[in-house]
Amino acid sequence: MSTQAQFARRDFLACVGSLLATDVAFGQGAAKSEGFSEPPPFRGEPDVEIELIAQRDLVRILDGAPTPVWRYLGNLLKGPPDTLTPIRDSYLGPTLRFRKGQKVRIHLRNDLPEKTITHWHGLHVPMSADGHPSQAISSGQIYTYDFAIRNRASLNFYHPHTHEATATQVYRGLAGLIIVEDDEERALALPTGAFEILLVIQDRAFNRDHQLVYGAGMHRGMFGFYGDQILVNGQINYRVDVARSVYRLRILNASNARIYKLAWDDGAPLTVIGVDGGLLNKPETRPYLMLAPAERIDLWVDFSARAMGSRITMHSLGFSGLVPEMAYGMMQDDGVGISESFPLFTITVTQGVSDHRQAPTTLASISPLRLEDVANPTQPRPIALGMSHMRLTLNERVYASDDLLPSERVPLGSLQLIDIYHDHGAAMRGGMGMMGMMSMAHPIHLHGQPFQILEREFDGDASVYASFNEGFVDSGLKDTVLVAPGERIRIIKPFEDYKGRFMYHCHNLEHEDMGMMREFFVE
Ligand code: C2O
Ligand code: CU
Ligand code: CU
Repeated sequence: MSTQAQFARRDFLACVGSLLATDVAFGQGAAKSEGFSEPPPFRGEPDVEIELIAQRDLVRILDGAPTPVWRYLGNLLKGPPDTLTPIRDSYLGPTLRFRKGQKVRIHLRNDLPEKTITHWHGLHVPMSADGHPSQAISSGQIYTYDFAIRNRASLNFYHPHTHEATATQVYRGLAGLIIVEDDEERALALPTGAFEILLVIQDRAFNRDHQLVYGAGMHRGMFGFYGDQILVNGQINYRVDVARSVYRLRILNASNARIYKLAWDDGAPLTVIGVDGGLLNKPETRPYLMLAPAERIDLWVDFSARAMGSRITMHSLGFSGLVPEMAYGMMQDDGVGISESFPLFTITVTQGVSDHRQAPTTLASISPLRLEDVANPTQPRPIALGMSHMRLTLNERVYASDDLLPSERVPLGSLQLIDIYHDHGAAMRGGMGMMGMMSMAHPIHLHGQPFQILEREFDGDASVYASFNEGFVDSGLKDTVLVAPGERIRIIKPFEDYKGRFMYHCHNLEHEDMGMMREFFVE
Protein backbone atom coordinates (compact mmCIF):
# COMPACT_ATOMS: atom_id res chain seq x y z
CA MET A 1 0.00 0.00 0.00
CA SER A 2 3.04 2.31 -0.14
CA THR A 3 2.00 4.25 -3.18
CA GLN A 4 -1.54 3.96 -2.17
CA ALA A 5 -0.52 6.57 0.32
CA GLN A 6 -0.14 8.96 -2.58
CA PHE A 7 -3.58 7.94 -3.42
CA ALA A 8 -4.90 8.77 -0.02
CA ARG A 9 -6.48 12.14 0.08
CA ARG A 10 -3.74 13.66 2.14
CA ASP A 11 -2.75 16.29 -0.43
CA PHE A 12 -6.28 16.82 -1.36
CA LEU A 13 -7.18 17.37 2.25
CA ALA A 14 -4.29 19.72 2.68
CA CYS A 15 -5.78 21.80 -0.05
CA VAL A 16 -9.33 21.86 0.84
CA GLY A 17 -8.73 21.96 4.56
CA SER A 18 -12.02 22.31 6.25
CA LEU A 19 -13.85 21.29 3.11
CA LEU A 20 -14.07 17.73 4.17
CA ALA A 21 -14.63 18.50 7.79
CA THR A 22 -17.12 16.50 9.71
CA ASP A 23 -19.89 19.06 9.84
CA VAL A 24 -21.48 17.29 6.92
CA ALA A 25 -24.20 15.28 8.59
CA PHE A 26 -24.49 11.98 6.88
CA GLY A 27 -25.40 8.36 7.14
CA GLN A 28 -29.02 8.45 8.19
CA GLY A 29 -31.19 6.00 6.32
CA ALA A 30 -32.49 7.36 3.03
CA ALA A 31 -36.13 6.79 3.72
CA LYS A 32 -36.35 8.18 7.25
CA SER A 33 -37.41 11.70 6.48
CA GLU A 34 -39.05 11.14 3.15
CA GLY A 35 -42.59 10.67 4.32
CA PHE A 36 -43.46 8.42 1.42
CA SER A 37 -43.09 4.81 0.52
CA GLU A 38 -41.76 3.99 -2.89
CA PRO A 39 -44.00 1.75 -4.99
CA PRO A 40 -42.26 -1.34 -6.43
CA PRO A 41 -40.50 -0.40 -9.68
CA PHE A 42 -41.98 -3.40 -11.46
CA ARG A 43 -44.24 -6.37 -10.87
CA GLY A 44 -43.23 -9.98 -11.27
CA GLU A 45 -39.84 -11.34 -12.18
CA PRO A 46 -37.06 -9.28 -13.76
CA ASP A 47 -36.20 -9.78 -17.45
CA VAL A 48 -32.54 -9.21 -16.72
CA GLU A 49 -30.58 -10.12 -13.62
CA ILE A 50 -26.93 -9.28 -13.12
CA GLU A 51 -24.40 -9.73 -10.37
CA LEU A 52 -21.91 -6.87 -10.36
CA ILE A 53 -18.86 -7.19 -8.14
CA ALA A 54 -16.71 -4.23 -7.18
CA GLN A 55 -13.28 -5.60 -6.37
CA ARG A 56 -9.53 -5.09 -6.47
CA ASP A 57 -7.61 -6.44 -9.44
CA LEU A 58 -4.37 -6.12 -11.40
CA VAL A 59 -4.51 -4.99 -15.03
CA ARG A 60 -1.66 -4.56 -17.51
CA ILE A 61 -1.98 -0.98 -18.73
CA LEU A 62 1.68 -0.11 -19.31
CA ASP A 63 4.36 -2.52 -20.59
CA GLY A 64 5.82 -4.48 -17.71
CA ALA A 65 4.39 -4.46 -14.24
CA PRO A 66 0.61 -4.56 -13.96
CA THR A 67 -1.34 -1.76 -12.30
CA PRO A 68 -3.47 -2.32 -9.20
CA VAL A 69 -7.00 -1.11 -9.92
CA TRP A 70 -10.50 -1.29 -8.54
CA ARG A 71 -13.02 -2.54 -11.04
CA TYR A 72 -16.44 -3.96 -11.72
CA LEU A 73 -16.79 -7.56 -12.85
CA GLY A 74 -20.17 -8.87 -13.93
CA ASN A 75 -22.07 -12.13 -14.16
CA LEU A 76 -25.21 -12.43 -16.21
CA LEU A 77 -27.71 -14.44 -14.18
CA LYS A 78 -30.67 -13.96 -16.50
CA GLY A 79 -31.40 -12.20 -19.79
CA PRO A 80 -30.20 -11.93 -23.40
CA PRO A 81 -26.53 -12.96 -23.76
CA ASP A 82 -25.51 -9.55 -25.18
CA THR A 83 -26.65 -7.85 -21.95
CA LEU A 84 -23.14 -8.02 -20.60
CA THR A 85 -19.98 -7.53 -22.68
CA PRO A 86 -16.58 -7.36 -20.99
CA ILE A 87 -14.08 -4.85 -22.44
CA ARG A 88 -10.89 -6.70 -23.32
CA ASP A 89 -7.63 -5.71 -21.61
CA SER A 90 -9.28 -3.01 -19.58
CA TYR A 91 -10.14 -2.17 -16.01
CA LEU A 92 -13.50 -0.81 -17.15
CA GLY A 93 -16.58 -2.73 -16.09
CA PRO A 94 -18.57 -4.80 -18.58
CA THR A 95 -20.78 -2.86 -21.00
CA LEU A 96 -24.43 -3.35 -20.06
CA ARG A 97 -26.95 -3.40 -22.89
CA PHE A 98 -30.59 -2.89 -21.96
CA ARG A 99 -33.76 -2.51 -23.97
CA LYS A 100 -36.44 0.05 -23.18
CA GLY A 101 -39.16 -1.57 -21.07
CA GLN A 102 -36.93 -4.27 -19.58
CA LYS A 103 -37.24 -5.02 -15.89
CA VAL A 104 -33.74 -5.07 -14.46
CA ARG A 105 -32.36 -6.44 -11.21
CA ILE A 106 -28.70 -5.85 -10.32
CA HIS A 107 -26.97 -7.22 -7.25
CA LEU A 108 -23.97 -5.07 -6.38
CA ARG A 109 -21.46 -6.91 -4.21
CA ASN A 110 -18.86 -4.81 -2.48
CA ASP A 111 -15.53 -6.65 -2.29
CA LEU A 112 -13.59 -3.42 -1.82
CA PRO A 113 -11.89 -2.39 1.43
CA GLU A 114 -14.26 0.57 1.86
CA LYS A 115 -17.89 1.53 1.40
CA THR A 116 -19.32 1.97 -2.06
CA ILE A 117 -22.58 2.42 -3.96
CA THR A 118 -23.17 2.48 -7.71
CA HIS A 119 -25.15 5.04 -9.69
CA TRP A 120 -26.57 4.44 -13.19
CA HIS A 121 -25.75 7.82 -14.68
CA GLY A 122 -28.42 8.93 -17.14
CA LEU A 123 -31.01 6.31 -16.20
CA HIS A 124 -34.34 7.50 -14.85
CA VAL A 125 -34.83 5.17 -11.87
CA PRO A 126 -36.46 5.31 -8.41
CA MET A 127 -34.46 6.80 -5.56
CA SER A 128 -33.91 3.32 -4.11
CA ALA A 129 -32.04 2.38 -7.29
CA ASP A 130 -30.26 5.69 -7.92
CA GLY A 131 -27.10 5.02 -5.93
CA HIS A 132 -27.79 7.63 -3.29
CA PRO A 133 -24.72 8.02 -1.01
CA SER A 134 -26.84 7.14 2.02
CA GLN A 135 -27.31 3.67 0.50
CA ALA A 136 -23.59 2.86 0.45
CA ILE A 137 -22.76 -0.68 1.54
CA SER A 138 -19.76 -1.90 3.50
CA SER A 139 -17.22 -4.43 2.43
CA GLY A 140 -18.84 -7.85 2.02
CA GLN A 141 -22.37 -6.50 1.64
CA ILE A 142 -24.78 -6.66 -1.30
CA TYR A 143 -27.18 -3.98 -2.53
CA THR A 144 -29.96 -5.05 -4.86
CA TYR A 145 -31.30 -2.56 -7.41
CA ASP A 146 -34.65 -3.05 -9.11
CA PHE A 147 -35.68 -0.72 -11.90
CA ALA A 148 -37.44 -0.66 -15.24
CA ILE A 149 -35.75 0.89 -18.26
CA ARG A 150 -37.75 4.02 -19.04
CA ASN A 151 -35.09 5.87 -21.00
CA ARG A 152 -35.11 6.15 -24.76
CA ALA A 153 -32.13 4.70 -26.63
CA SER A 154 -28.98 6.34 -25.29
CA LEU A 155 -25.44 5.83 -24.03
CA ASN A 156 -25.15 6.04 -20.26
CA PHE A 157 -22.67 4.81 -17.68
CA TYR A 158 -22.32 3.48 -14.17
CA HIS A 159 -19.90 4.59 -11.50
CA PRO A 160 -19.67 4.88 -7.72
CA HIS A 161 -21.48 7.69 -5.95
CA THR A 162 -19.92 7.15 -2.56
CA HIS A 163 -19.95 10.05 -0.11
CA GLU A 164 -16.68 12.00 -0.53
CA ALA A 165 -15.10 9.03 -2.34
CA THR A 166 -16.63 9.20 -5.82
CA ALA A 167 -13.51 10.78 -7.32
CA THR A 168 -11.04 8.28 -5.85
CA GLN A 169 -13.19 5.24 -6.60
CA VAL A 170 -13.78 6.25 -10.22
CA TYR A 171 -10.11 7.11 -10.53
CA ARG A 172 -9.05 3.65 -9.40
CA GLY A 173 -11.09 2.22 -12.27
CA LEU A 174 -14.72 1.81 -11.24
CA ALA A 175 -16.83 2.73 -14.28
CA GLY A 176 -18.64 1.02 -17.13
CA LEU A 177 -20.94 1.81 -20.06
CA ILE A 178 -24.70 1.28 -20.29
CA ILE A 179 -26.39 1.17 -23.68
CA VAL A 180 -30.16 1.49 -23.90
CA GLU A 181 -31.80 0.39 -27.13
CA ASP A 182 -35.33 1.03 -28.35
CA ASP A 183 -37.52 0.43 -31.42
CA GLU A 184 -37.31 4.02 -32.65
CA GLU A 185 -33.54 3.79 -32.91
CA ARG A 186 -33.55 0.25 -34.30
CA ALA A 187 -35.82 1.38 -37.16
CA LEU A 188 -33.05 3.71 -38.37
CA ALA A 189 -30.66 0.80 -38.92
CA LEU A 190 -27.68 2.82 -37.70
CA PRO A 191 -24.26 1.15 -37.92
CA THR A 192 -24.12 -1.65 -35.39
CA GLY A 193 -21.94 -4.59 -34.30
CA ALA A 194 -18.35 -3.99 -35.43
CA PHE A 195 -19.51 -0.67 -36.92
CA GLU A 196 -20.52 0.76 -33.57
CA ILE A 197 -17.38 1.87 -31.71
CA LEU A 198 -17.64 2.70 -28.03
CA LEU A 199 -14.95 4.97 -26.60
CA VAL A 200 -14.44 5.93 -22.97
CA ILE A 201 -11.88 8.72 -22.51
CA GLN A 202 -10.06 9.17 -19.19
CA ASP A 203 -6.81 10.67 -17.94
CA ARG A 204 -4.54 9.07 -15.39
CA ALA A 205 -1.08 9.46 -13.86
CA PHE A 206 1.27 6.57 -13.06
CA ASN A 207 4.39 6.29 -10.95
CA ARG A 208 7.46 4.27 -11.95
CA ASP A 209 5.96 1.13 -10.49
CA HIS A 210 2.92 1.62 -12.73
CA GLN A 211 0.69 2.40 -9.83
CA LEU A 212 -1.97 5.04 -10.25
CA VAL A 213 -1.08 8.35 -8.65
CA TYR A 214 -3.86 10.64 -7.54
CA GLY A 215 -3.42 14.31 -6.86
CA ALA A 216 -0.21 16.03 -6.00
CA GLY A 217 -0.78 19.42 -4.52
CA MET A 218 -3.40 21.91 -3.60
CA HIS A 219 -4.15 23.26 -7.00
CA ARG A 220 -5.19 20.02 -8.48
CA GLY A 221 -7.57 19.75 -5.61
CA MET A 222 -9.28 23.01 -6.41
CA PHE A 223 -9.33 22.57 -10.18
CA GLY A 224 -9.84 18.83 -10.13
CA PHE A 225 -7.49 16.03 -11.04
CA TYR A 226 -5.52 16.20 -14.30
CA GLY A 227 -3.52 13.15 -15.38
CA ASP A 228 -0.63 13.22 -17.85
CA GLN A 229 -1.71 10.08 -19.75
CA ILE A 230 -4.80 9.68 -21.88
CA LEU A 231 -6.53 6.31 -21.72
CA VAL A 232 -9.28 5.19 -24.07
CA ASN A 233 -11.23 2.13 -22.97
CA GLY A 234 -8.57 1.73 -20.30
CA GLN A 235 -5.66 1.64 -22.74
CA ILE A 236 -2.81 3.97 -23.67
CA ASN A 237 -2.29 4.92 -27.39
CA TYR A 238 -5.66 3.52 -28.34
CA ARG A 239 -6.01 2.34 -31.94
CA VAL A 240 -8.96 1.07 -33.91
CA ASP A 241 -8.95 -0.59 -37.33
CA VAL A 242 -11.92 0.18 -39.52
CA ALA A 243 -13.31 -0.72 -42.95
CA ARG A 244 -14.05 1.85 -45.66
CA SER A 245 -17.55 2.21 -44.37
CA VAL A 246 -19.84 4.25 -42.17
CA TYR A 247 -19.48 3.97 -38.42
CA ARG A 248 -21.14 5.12 -35.28
CA LEU A 249 -18.62 6.44 -32.72
CA ARG A 250 -20.12 6.81 -29.26
CA ILE A 251 -17.86 8.66 -26.86
CA LEU A 252 -18.06 9.16 -23.10
CA ASN A 253 -15.79 11.47 -21.13
CA ALA A 254 -15.30 9.50 -17.89
CA SER A 255 -12.41 11.67 -16.68
CA ASN A 256 -12.56 13.14 -13.21
CA ALA A 257 -12.10 16.75 -14.31
CA ARG A 258 -10.57 17.08 -17.76
CA ILE A 259 -12.58 18.71 -20.55
CA TYR A 260 -11.79 17.69 -24.14
CA LYS A 261 -12.13 19.63 -27.37
CA LEU A 262 -12.55 16.82 -29.90
CA ALA A 263 -11.42 17.33 -33.49
CA TRP A 264 -10.02 15.17 -36.30
CA ASP A 265 -6.39 15.93 -37.06
CA ASP A 266 -7.16 16.54 -40.75
CA GLY A 267 -9.83 19.11 -39.94
CA ALA A 268 -12.75 16.96 -41.17
CA PRO A 269 -15.99 18.21 -39.62
CA LEU A 270 -17.81 16.09 -37.05
CA THR A 271 -21.35 14.88 -37.69
CA VAL A 272 -23.24 14.61 -34.40
CA ILE A 273 -26.27 12.33 -34.25
CA GLY A 274 -26.77 12.15 -30.50
CA VAL A 275 -25.87 13.42 -27.04
CA ASP A 276 -26.39 12.32 -23.41
CA GLY A 277 -30.10 11.54 -23.70
CA GLY A 278 -30.03 9.86 -27.12
CA LEU A 279 -30.43 10.81 -30.76
CA LEU A 280 -30.92 14.39 -31.92
CA ASN A 281 -33.85 15.11 -34.22
CA LYS A 282 -31.43 15.81 -37.07
CA PRO A 283 -27.68 15.39 -37.52
CA GLU A 284 -25.61 18.51 -36.79
CA THR A 285 -22.13 19.37 -37.96
CA ARG A 286 -19.38 20.97 -35.88
CA PRO A 287 -15.74 21.83 -36.51
CA TYR A 288 -14.96 20.49 -33.03
CA LEU A 289 -16.90 19.30 -29.99
CA MET A 290 -16.52 20.11 -26.32
CA LEU A 291 -16.89 17.05 -24.12
CA ALA A 292 -16.94 17.72 -20.38
CA PRO A 293 -16.85 15.01 -17.71
CA ALA A 294 -19.94 12.74 -17.93
CA GLU A 295 -21.05 14.11 -21.31
CA ARG A 296 -21.61 11.72 -24.21
CA ILE A 297 -21.51 12.34 -27.92
CA ASP A 298 -22.69 10.11 -30.76
CA LEU A 299 -20.99 10.59 -34.13
CA TRP A 300 -21.73 9.39 -37.65
CA VAL A 301 -18.39 8.89 -39.37
CA ASP A 302 -17.89 7.91 -42.99
CA PHE A 303 -14.52 6.34 -43.76
CA SER A 304 -15.59 5.13 -47.23
CA ALA A 305 -13.70 7.80 -49.19
CA ARG A 306 -10.47 7.20 -47.29
CA ALA A 307 -7.57 5.31 -48.81
CA MET A 308 -6.65 1.86 -47.55
CA GLY A 309 -3.97 2.23 -44.92
CA SER A 310 -4.83 5.84 -44.18
CA ARG A 311 -4.91 7.09 -40.64
CA ILE A 312 -6.98 9.67 -38.85
CA THR A 313 -6.43 10.78 -35.28
CA MET A 314 -8.92 12.31 -32.89
CA HIS A 315 -7.23 15.13 -31.03
CA SER A 316 -8.19 17.28 -28.15
CA LEU A 317 -7.41 20.84 -29.24
CA GLY A 318 -6.22 23.61 -26.97
CA PHE A 319 -8.69 26.10 -25.57
CA SER A 320 -8.75 28.88 -23.04
CA GLY A 321 -11.21 30.30 -20.57
CA LEU A 322 -12.58 27.15 -18.97
CA VAL A 323 -9.91 26.59 -16.36
CA PRO A 324 -8.32 29.58 -14.58
CA GLU A 325 -5.25 30.90 -16.36
CA MET A 326 -3.16 30.43 -13.23
CA ALA A 327 -3.90 26.71 -13.35
CA TYR A 328 -2.28 26.34 -16.74
CA GLY A 329 1.16 27.09 -15.41
CA MET A 330 0.68 24.69 -12.55
CA MET A 331 -0.14 21.86 -14.88
CA GLN A 332 2.59 22.66 -17.36
CA ASP A 333 4.78 19.80 -16.22
CA ASP A 334 2.05 17.39 -17.27
CA GLY A 335 2.61 15.35 -20.41
CA VAL A 336 -0.84 16.46 -21.44
CA GLY A 337 -1.52 20.15 -21.04
CA ILE A 338 -4.69 22.13 -21.28
CA SER A 339 -3.82 24.90 -23.66
CA GLU A 340 -2.25 22.74 -26.33
CA SER A 341 -3.47 19.89 -28.48
CA PHE A 342 -2.80 16.18 -27.86
CA PRO A 343 -3.94 12.91 -29.49
CA LEU A 344 -6.76 10.80 -28.03
CA PHE A 345 -7.02 7.80 -30.38
CA THR A 346 -6.08 6.79 -33.91
CA ILE A 347 -8.15 5.06 -36.55
CA THR A 348 -6.59 3.08 -39.42
CA VAL A 349 -8.51 2.06 -42.53
CA THR A 350 -7.60 -1.58 -43.13
CA GLN A 351 -10.48 -3.20 -45.00
CA GLY A 352 -12.34 -2.71 -48.28
CA VAL A 353 -15.55 -0.90 -49.06
CA SER A 354 -18.81 -2.10 -47.65
CA ASP A 355 -21.08 0.85 -46.98
CA HIS A 356 -21.04 4.57 -47.71
CA ARG A 357 -24.58 5.75 -47.07
CA GLN A 358 -25.43 9.17 -45.65
CA ALA A 359 -26.70 9.66 -42.12
CA PRO A 360 -30.52 9.68 -42.01
CA THR A 361 -31.75 13.28 -42.34
CA THR A 362 -34.35 12.67 -39.63
CA LEU A 363 -33.21 10.72 -36.58
CA ALA A 364 -35.87 11.33 -33.96
CA SER A 365 -38.88 13.47 -33.20
CA ILE A 366 -38.46 14.82 -29.69
CA SER A 367 -40.96 17.59 -29.10
CA PRO A 368 -39.24 20.49 -27.41
CA LEU A 369 -40.07 21.13 -23.77
CA ARG A 370 -41.72 24.55 -23.89
CA LEU A 371 -41.42 27.53 -21.62
CA GLU A 372 -45.22 27.88 -21.84
CA ASP A 373 -45.57 24.54 -20.09
CA VAL A 374 -43.25 25.02 -17.12
CA ALA A 375 -44.73 25.36 -13.64
CA ASN A 376 -42.48 28.32 -12.72
CA PRO A 377 -41.94 30.56 -15.78
CA THR A 378 -41.18 33.68 -13.74
CA GLN A 379 -39.42 32.01 -10.82
CA PRO A 380 -36.74 29.73 -12.17
CA ARG A 381 -35.21 27.41 -9.60
CA PRO A 382 -31.61 28.58 -9.08
CA ILE A 383 -28.44 26.56 -9.29
CA ALA A 384 -25.92 29.20 -8.29
CA LEU A 385 -22.32 28.10 -8.76
CA GLY A 386 -20.24 29.79 -6.13
CA MET A 387 -17.67 29.64 -3.45
CA SER A 388 -17.73 30.63 0.15
CA HIS A 389 -15.30 30.02 2.97
CA MET A 390 -12.94 28.14 0.65
CA ARG A 391 -15.69 25.77 -0.41
CA LEU A 392 -17.24 25.37 -3.82
CA THR A 393 -20.97 25.69 -3.37
CA LEU A 394 -24.33 25.33 -5.04
CA ASN A 395 -26.86 27.91 -3.87
CA GLU A 396 -24.29 28.95 -1.24
CA ARG A 397 -24.42 25.53 0.41
CA VAL A 398 -22.37 22.37 0.39
CA TYR A 399 -23.89 18.91 0.40
CA ALA A 400 -25.67 17.85 3.54
CA SER A 401 -28.61 15.57 4.06
CA ASP A 402 -31.86 17.08 5.33
CA ASP A 403 -30.80 20.55 4.30
CA LEU A 404 -33.34 21.37 1.63
CA LEU A 405 -33.91 24.93 0.47
CA PRO A 406 -37.48 25.88 -0.46
CA SER A 407 -36.36 26.05 -4.11
CA GLU A 408 -35.20 22.43 -3.86
CA ARG A 409 -38.66 21.01 -3.12
CA VAL A 410 -40.25 20.09 -6.42
CA PRO A 411 -43.79 18.82 -7.00
CA LEU A 412 -43.94 15.37 -8.58
CA GLY A 413 -45.14 15.44 -12.17
CA SER A 414 -44.07 19.01 -12.88
CA LEU A 415 -41.95 20.62 -15.54
CA GLN A 416 -39.46 23.09 -14.08
CA LEU A 417 -37.42 25.99 -15.36
CA ILE A 418 -33.93 25.95 -13.81
CA ASP A 419 -31.39 28.75 -14.02
CA ILE A 420 -27.72 27.79 -13.69
CA TYR A 421 -25.32 30.70 -13.22
CA HIS A 422 -22.09 31.81 -11.60
CA ASP A 423 -22.67 33.62 -8.35
CA HIS A 424 -19.65 35.84 -8.01
CA GLY A 425 -21.25 37.76 -5.19
CA ALA A 426 -21.15 34.68 -2.99
CA ALA A 427 -17.43 34.29 -3.61
CA MET A 428 -16.83 37.89 -2.62
CA ARG A 429 -18.97 37.67 0.47
CA GLY A 430 -17.05 34.57 1.42
CA GLY A 431 -13.89 36.66 1.45
CA MET A 432 -12.60 34.81 -1.57
CA GLY A 433 -12.23 37.68 -3.95
CA MET A 434 -9.29 36.19 -5.78
CA MET A 435 -10.80 32.75 -5.97
CA GLY A 436 -13.98 34.38 -7.21
CA MET A 437 -12.10 35.89 -10.09
CA MET A 438 -10.70 32.51 -10.95
CA SER A 439 -14.12 31.35 -11.94
CA MET A 440 -13.98 28.09 -13.88
CA ALA A 441 -16.27 25.88 -15.93
CA HIS A 442 -18.43 23.36 -14.08
CA PRO A 443 -20.14 20.38 -15.76
CA ILE A 444 -23.48 20.38 -13.95
CA HIS A 445 -25.37 17.08 -13.81
CA LEU A 446 -28.93 16.48 -12.65
CA HIS A 447 -30.19 13.02 -11.74
CA GLY A 448 -33.53 11.76 -12.99
CA GLN A 449 -34.99 12.53 -16.40
CA PRO A 450 -32.92 14.36 -18.99
CA PHE A 451 -33.50 18.06 -19.63
CA GLN A 452 -33.43 20.44 -22.53
CA ILE A 453 -31.28 23.51 -22.78
CA LEU A 454 -33.53 26.51 -23.34
CA GLU A 455 -30.90 29.19 -23.67
CA ARG A 456 -27.30 30.09 -22.99
CA GLU A 457 -26.24 33.64 -22.26
CA PHE A 458 -22.66 34.78 -22.12
CA ASP A 459 -21.22 37.89 -20.52
CA GLY A 460 -17.48 38.09 -20.90
CA ASP A 461 -14.61 38.11 -23.37
CA ALA A 462 -15.99 37.07 -26.77
CA SER A 463 -12.58 36.03 -28.09
CA VAL A 464 -12.13 33.62 -25.19
CA TYR A 465 -15.64 32.28 -25.71
CA ALA A 466 -14.84 31.70 -29.37
CA SER A 467 -12.20 29.14 -28.37
CA PHE A 468 -14.88 26.65 -27.33
CA ASN A 469 -18.48 27.76 -27.87
CA GLU A 470 -18.94 26.26 -31.33
CA GLY A 471 -18.37 22.90 -29.72
CA PHE A 472 -21.58 22.81 -27.68
CA VAL A 473 -24.55 20.75 -28.90
CA ASP A 474 -27.59 22.10 -27.09
CA SER A 475 -30.44 20.75 -29.20
CA GLY A 476 -30.85 17.26 -27.73
CA LEU A 477 -31.74 15.78 -24.38
CA LYS A 478 -28.98 16.30 -21.82
CA ASP A 479 -28.19 15.25 -18.29
CA THR A 480 -24.94 17.15 -17.93
CA VAL A 481 -24.19 20.65 -19.20
CA LEU A 482 -20.90 22.51 -19.12
CA VAL A 483 -21.37 25.99 -17.69
CA ALA A 484 -18.44 28.13 -18.82
CA PRO A 485 -17.29 31.15 -16.84
CA GLY A 486 -19.55 34.06 -17.76
CA GLU A 487 -22.39 31.79 -18.82
CA ARG A 488 -25.95 31.58 -17.58
CA ILE A 489 -27.87 28.55 -18.83
CA ARG A 490 -31.59 27.99 -18.53
CA ILE A 491 -32.86 24.46 -18.77
CA ILE A 492 -36.29 22.81 -18.67
CA LYS A 493 -36.52 19.54 -16.79
CA PRO A 494 -39.39 17.18 -16.05
CA PHE A 495 -39.68 15.64 -12.57
CA GLU A 496 -41.96 12.67 -13.19
CA ASP A 497 -42.64 9.17 -11.91
CA TYR A 498 -40.54 8.99 -8.74
CA LYS A 499 -40.68 10.78 -5.44
CA GLY A 500 -37.60 11.18 -3.30
CA ARG A 501 -34.26 12.92 -3.18
CA PHE A 502 -32.38 13.22 -6.46
CA MET A 503 -28.97 14.78 -6.58
CA TYR A 504 -27.65 17.54 -8.75
CA HIS A 505 -23.97 18.29 -8.68
CA CYS A 506 -20.81 19.29 -10.44
CA HIS A 507 -19.42 16.29 -12.34
CA ASN A 508 -15.89 17.50 -11.84
CA LEU A 509 -15.57 14.66 -9.35
CA GLU A 510 -13.17 16.50 -7.08
CA HIS A 511 -15.71 19.32 -6.87
CA GLU A 512 -18.50 16.85 -6.20
CA ASP A 513 -16.57 15.27 -3.34
CA MET A 514 -15.81 18.70 -1.88
CA GLY A 515 -19.53 19.17 -1.48
CA MET A 516 -20.53 20.86 -4.76
CA MET A 517 -23.67 18.77 -4.70
CA ARG A 518 -27.27 19.29 -3.59
CA GLU A 519 -30.60 17.50 -3.91
CA PHE A 520 -34.03 18.13 -5.31
CA PHE A 521 -36.71 16.58 -3.14
CA VAL A 522 -39.49 15.48 -5.47
CA GLU A 523 -42.71 15.25 -3.43
CU1 C2O B 1 -22.46 10.55 -12.93
CU2 C2O B 1 -24.49 11.94 -9.69
O1 C2O B 1 -23.39 11.24 -11.30
CU1 CU C 1 -26.33 10.75 -12.57
CU1 CU D 1 -17.17 22.12 -10.60
